[in-house]
Amino acid sequence: MFLFVDIIRKDRKSHVYGFLSPYILSLNMYKQNDPGLILDDAILSETHIPHIISARNTHVNELSTCLAPVFSGRKPRSVWLYGCPGTGKTTIASHMLRELNREKGIPGVYVNCWKHNTFYAVLEYILGELRRGFGDARDKRVKLVQFERLVKDRPFIIILDEIDVVPLKERNTMIYNLSNVGNVGLILISESRYPILALEDRVRSRLNPYTLEFRPYTVDELVEILTQRAAGALHPRAWDKRTLELVAEIAGGDARVAIQTLRNAASYAQSEGCERIMPEHIEKGYNDTGGLRRTYELKRLTEHHRLLYSIIEENPGISSPELYQAYLQRCEANNWKPVASRTYSLYMKRMTELKLVKAERARVKGRVHAFRVWE
Ligand SMILES: Nc1ncnc2c1ncn2[C@@H]1O[C@H](COP(=O)(O)OP(=O)(O)O)[C@@H](O)[C@H]1O
Ligand SMILES: [Mg+2]
Repeated sequence: MFLFVDIIRKDRKSHVYGFLSPYILSLNMYKQNDPGLILDDAILSETHIPHIISARNTHVNELSTCLAPVFSGRKPRSVWLYGCPGTGKTTIASHMLRELNREKGIPGVYVNCWKHNTFYAVLEYILGELRRGFGDARDKRVKLVQFERLVKDRPFIIILDEIDVVPLKERNTMIYNLSNVGNVGLILISESRYPILALEDRVRSRLNPYTLEFRPYTVDELVEILTQRAAGALHPRAWDKRTLELVAEIAGGDARVAIQTLRNAASYAQSEGCERIMPEHIEKGYNDTGGLRRTYELKRLTEHHRLLYSIIEENPGISSPELYQAYLQRCEANNWKPVASRTYSLYMKRMTELKLVKAERARVKGRVHAFRVWE
């Protein structure tokens, strides 16, 4: 088996290499003297939680100041974090919650509103996390009372991440009610400032959030973040400061794109049997991050766009009339008012322009299209 790998490396350009390339990664793991370029892929994965937060001292300090009243059993100031994707909002909020819990035993829950986007769903999730969600109440008021009884007047932190995907009316109800509960402190996270301005006056004055902007990272800040990851994840011979600078320059201030570009680049370099990451690996690695950017686009659109996208994703090749019917049915099931047909056409056009979905002429008579999501 080891022999094979050596042959492949020497004979990189032959068709034998092309044929066996998927195996190289796993074969490398068996090579005791040569562990490959990637030593610990998990450190470069999206789910890795860094123990050291680089380049965001001011944000960490300001957030700590807002939450400090919990140390004397009081209600913390609510904070609203906003900024472009990949600027560390989720990381810093979760880090804070983890530290408060570890050091002072302050409880709290992280909620991703992308997954739980109604007030009822959020309450159910929180109660579930507190292992108290087993009642069969289908009413959000009952769930809210259960939650109030549970936390009483103890400080409790709720992170509502991606709050902008919750429809506006629901968002107002959710924020108003949760900020009224005992000593609960809210950390809200969105991409822009607009959702703060869009709140009803009574909700905004009730919440009175401290706002904290997350600007895109500078190249130096991204290099700092990448250095932490590369040091743990990659073989020292695979990279140097210049490698990370190239990745940081291409990533446009987005740490998620930067880390994923580095991961992809390392994997290209490794599968080509290279000793180190070269600029062409970085370029290819960056090109493969298109999926991330599509997710960002989708989050910026309305819940109707996202509904249409998920119908198309579940039914590749769905025809335009079938799609419209499915849309109406799903709106009815969600208790949503469907958008007017002109708006519907504009929504579909926008998603095609953004290369979220593609429309092909269906093989039937008339102006029927078949839709698929872009892979
Ligand atoms: N300051 C930082 N220090 C270390 N890692 C970071 C930092 N900021 C972001 N990251 C990493 O970048 C990725 C995206 O960060 P995230 O907090 O999810 O961004 P956002 O929520 O703003 O979209 C995550 O993998 C995270 O671990
Ligand atoms: Mg986030």
